[in-house]
Amino acid sequence: MRFLKKGDDKKPKSEAEQAAKGHPDLKVISGSQISGQRPQQPTQQQQQQQNITLPNIQYKIAVASGKGGVGKSTVATNLAISLANAGAAVGLMDADAYGPSIPTMMGIQEQPKVSPERKLIPLVRHNIKLMSIGFMVPEEQAMIWRGPMLHSSIRQLLSDVEWGELDYLIIDLPPGTGDVALSLTQAIPLTGALIVTTPQDVALADVRRGVAMFERLGVPILGIIENMSYFLCPHCNEKTEIFRKDGGKNTSERFGVAFLGQIPLDAEVCTAGDIGVPIVAGHPESPQSEAFGTVAQELETVLQESGDDDELTIL
Ligand SMILES: Nc1ncnc2c1ncn2[C@@H]1O[C@H](COP(=O)(O)OP(=O)(O)OP(=O)(O)O)[C@@H](O)[C@H]1O
Ligand SMILES: [Mg+2]
Repeated sequence: MRFLKKGDDKKPKSEAEQAAKGHPDLKVISGSQISGQRPQQPTQQQQQQQNITLPNIQYKIAVASGKGGVGKSTVATNLAISLANAGAAVGLMDADAYGPSIPTMMGIQEQPKVSPERKLIPLVRHNIKLMSIGFMVPEEQAMIWRGPMLHSSIRQLLSDVEWGELDYLIIDLPPGTGDVALSLTQAIPLTGALIVTTPQDVALADVRRGVAMFERLGVPILGIIENMSYFLCPHCNEKTEIFRKDGGKNTSERFGVAFLGQIPLDAEVCTAGDIGVPIVAGHPESPQSEAFGTVAQELETVLQESGDDDELTIL
């Protein structure tokens, strides 16, 4: 329920006007301007009209999970830096309207600048070009956004940003199977999605939901990444499997998709994210960073192999 304050009885501002307040130089177009009365499932023709092609970006990859808090943003950030360390040009787009965390994890406090062509210039940290939906709109406002507003802001993050030439654009999604993933897949032809999970059964049930959503949207699953797979003792380097063993691996076998690797549960991974220097940037030689490096290599292999036969698995 909305309570009116004194003097608040004028015509309410449109969602677009409210959203534009998030960034002084940004005009957020309303969802209806983009697609009119957007049906739940757009026709192929509508989808083509809506598509932003981003021809200068080779791979556009969403990082998703069915469940919250499994480490999507941590994986997206460290994976992006691992790819950049291997020589790729990488952008990282934080599409989590409900809790954008990438700026914190990447140690960014400032706002992006606007070019003379009225495009947002991504901020650069740890050799990564970065843009967040959090720069465009205050979090508490985005929390109450409905589909059309999310839709227009996702499109702006793609089309109104000077991404330049990139090998990879890694896109961090909010948890679950909601509007953001739908908007993203309607806006650009994604190369594919990565699903992050923990080895537990409950998380794996959510993986199935995530996989089913991308299946419906016609987006290939590039692979599954198992996070918090084991605890690596900092004293003796012994591995302890705190949650169930190999859950992500077994699930990937069941779905017939690539298993890209296991990331240990580790206090330094967590701290590094909190202080804005992801572990792969701060300690590139550590075993934790090596685990992210393995995921990056496996991803590259999947993409190369799919390029060879020009086909990715759409489940
Ligand atoms: N491998 C790990 N070891 C230790 N801590 C981790 C690891 N991965 C993630 N974390 C911590 O767990 C918390 C949740 O991680 P993160 O924010 O990356 O998850 P998320 O899936 O993006 O969450 P949300 O669904 O809210 O977007 C963070 O505090 C992060 O530092
Ligand atoms: Mg996140």
